[in-house]
Amino acid sequence: MSDGAATESGATLEQELERMLEIERFSPPESFRAQALLTDPAVYEEAARDPQAWWAKQAEELDWFERWDTVLDDSDPPFYKWFVGGKINASYNCLDRHVEAGRGDRVAYHWRGEEGEERDLTYAELHRDVQRFANALKDLGIGKGDVVGIYLPMIPEVVVAMLACARIGAPHNVVFGGFSAESVKERMEFSEAKALITVDGARRKGRTAPIKQQVDDHMHDLATLEHIVVVRHTGIDVPMREGRDVFYDEVCAAADADCPAEPLDAEHPLYILYTSGSTAKPKGILHTTGGYLTGVAATHRYVFDLKPESDVYWCAADVGWVTGHSYIVYGPLCNGATSVMWEGAPDYPHKGVWWEVAERYRATILYAAPTAIRTFIKWGADIPARHDLSSLRLLGSVGEPINPKAWLWYHQVIGGGRCPIVDTWWQTETGAIMITPLPGITETKPGSATTPFPGVFADVVSEHDGQPVENGQGLLVLTQPWPSMLRTLYKEEDRFVETYFARFGRETYLVGDAARRDKDGYFWVIGRIDDVVNVSGHRLSTAEVESAIVAHELVAEAAVIGQSDEDTGQAICAFVTLTGGVEGTDEVEGGIREVVAERIGKFARPKRIVWADDLPKTRSGKIMRRLLRDIAEGRALGDVTTLRDPDVMEQLQEKIVEAQAQEQ
Ligand code: PRX
Repeated sequence: MSDGAATESGATLEQELERMLEIERFSPPESFRAQALLTDPAVYEEAARDPQAWWAKQAEELDWFERWDTVLDDSDPPFYKWFVGGKINASYNCLDRHVEAGRGDRVAYHWRGEEGEERDLTYAELHRDVQRFANALKDLGIGKGDVVGIYLPMIPEVVVAMLACARIGAPHNVVFGGFSAESVKERMEFSEAKALITVDGARRKGRTAPIKQQVDDHMHDLATLEHIVVVRHTGIDVPMREGRDVFYDEVCAAADADCPAEPLDAEHPLYILYTSGSTAKPKGILHTTGGYLTGVAATHRYVFDLKPESDVYWCAADVGWVTGHSYIVYGPLCNGATSVMWEGAPDYPHKGVWWEVAERYRATILYAAPTAIRTFIKWGADIPARHDLSSLRLLGSVGEPINPKAWLWYHQVIGGGRCPIVDTWWQTETGAIMITPLPGITETKPGSATTPFPGVFADVVSEHDGQPVENGQGLLVLTQPWPSMLRTLYKEEDRFVETYFARFGRETYLVGDAARRDKDGYFWVIGRIDDVVNVSGHRLSTAEVESAIVAHELVAEAAVIGQSDEDTGQAICAFVTLTGGVEGTDEVEGGIREVVAERIGKFARPKRIVWADDLPKTRSGKIMRRLLRDIAEGRALGDVTTLRDPDVMEQLQEKIVEAQAQEQ
């Protein structure tokens, strides 16, 4: 079915989608409801009546070495503790209990490499590999509480590495493979990581990046880092430093095969994951064990209506982001799911590769980002139409608002009109899905993440007084603690309180998103209210990008904003002032992009650079990004009288129109 071709009803796809835009809501199809795990809305009431009892019931689905005495200790908000006194291990819950129950032969991951290689990894095999690697880490002197960095591509070893750390109580700190080695170094430094697990080389669209070499170029002066473990993936030659570096396969071969999982306190740190905030310094989100597992396992089961015996679940995120942590690794493995793990990009070796993979493994559930869906729309409906996608029964969306048209395309073209869509709103900080449909219960509205998961309490409040906003836009907040919430920012307790729990008191979590609620109580998340931008679902701080740009020797000053973008949701637009007299040439522009790629990663490179003789500043010298956002979006300018030099705006306005015209 190409975009212009007729559908069964005789209309073109375009006409069909236009028509569907008028449909306000979609009920769960009867065929779906008939087999769904949850179909009775009474779960919402049950959870609302006694949230702690509801979460305790979810926690009971896990295996505990020792049961908790207290479900929630809320005596010192916002430092909440869940399942206090309980002893648990994440790796045990992901592996041992399935193997012990005779499910060891079930495939945990159908791994598919970029060049079409296939590797199925069963629960028993994963259990075996994790035990060996956990012992290898111990042999290297890594123990409970030591932070271990992980910088790996989408290969099964990344899961082994995470679970091996969890097994011995060493919090992992995974860095997304798209970040540069410089960013890895920064994150290892902030977390005082004792070891880093990385790879010889990473493949991307037929090319190999020399990861170990790049890591070495940056890591040499890091005193805390005692070991680098190198997974051989591409087989390229790598430099190895005697006494510090070891090969993964060699240390595993030398290690003991048995490594019982360590019983850990429910509040033992499971991982740190750095994410972007309002300042240039990334925030180390800290998640602990018992509450986090409870949240991810329960949401994974109910939001995806998971039937572990029959479903083939595919979360097409990267394991380096929170979506990968919660919904490629911990949630699915806790639930004994069979997942697909895809190493590569959506357009290599060809633009239909996702659909080829979905068809090959008979995927039943697909969880993807709107940015990917928009890309597929651009490529045309005829590409997925070449594949048999009839195995799909449920679709998910995450990472940014999904526009109704993309929602409908996803529903019709990928889901064949028969699959409910779960648009899931959550964050690195929340650990698990917070606002989402339950696919056997909720009537969905394209573009809305609908209502909070049972046991989660959200509201939209006024930025002035924190009072609920009945009509219109306000700030999204979560009003009660939930088990998978972040516990702190690693080594930055004050920043944790200041960022999330200062505005409306210590018991109200400030999300950082604007939202509105409609007459049915459905939430519509609009986007960030802080200086965080969302480029293709990748979270970035404008301050981080600015600080990379000003590292360029010819740059005097820079202001970065997120600009609406049809393909990537938002795109980075940088206003740059060069040092005295220097011309803004293509070469300088290329150099700036290079510095950003080197300091942060290629995905953070500005899409648009506007040369500015000056930037709009208040008399006290503060850059007014709000005005830059206004001109970038073509909005009428707000009040400019507080500017030191109001003429600046006129010049910039002309420049941005010029830059946009040139790109056409
Ligand atoms: O602005 C919201 C947006 O992504 C932010 C969180 O980003 P991150 O911590 O990287 O986690 C992304 C994956 C969970 C949120 O503050 N966001 C995430 N999901 C949605 C969304 N915006 C609208 N709708 C969503 N479903």
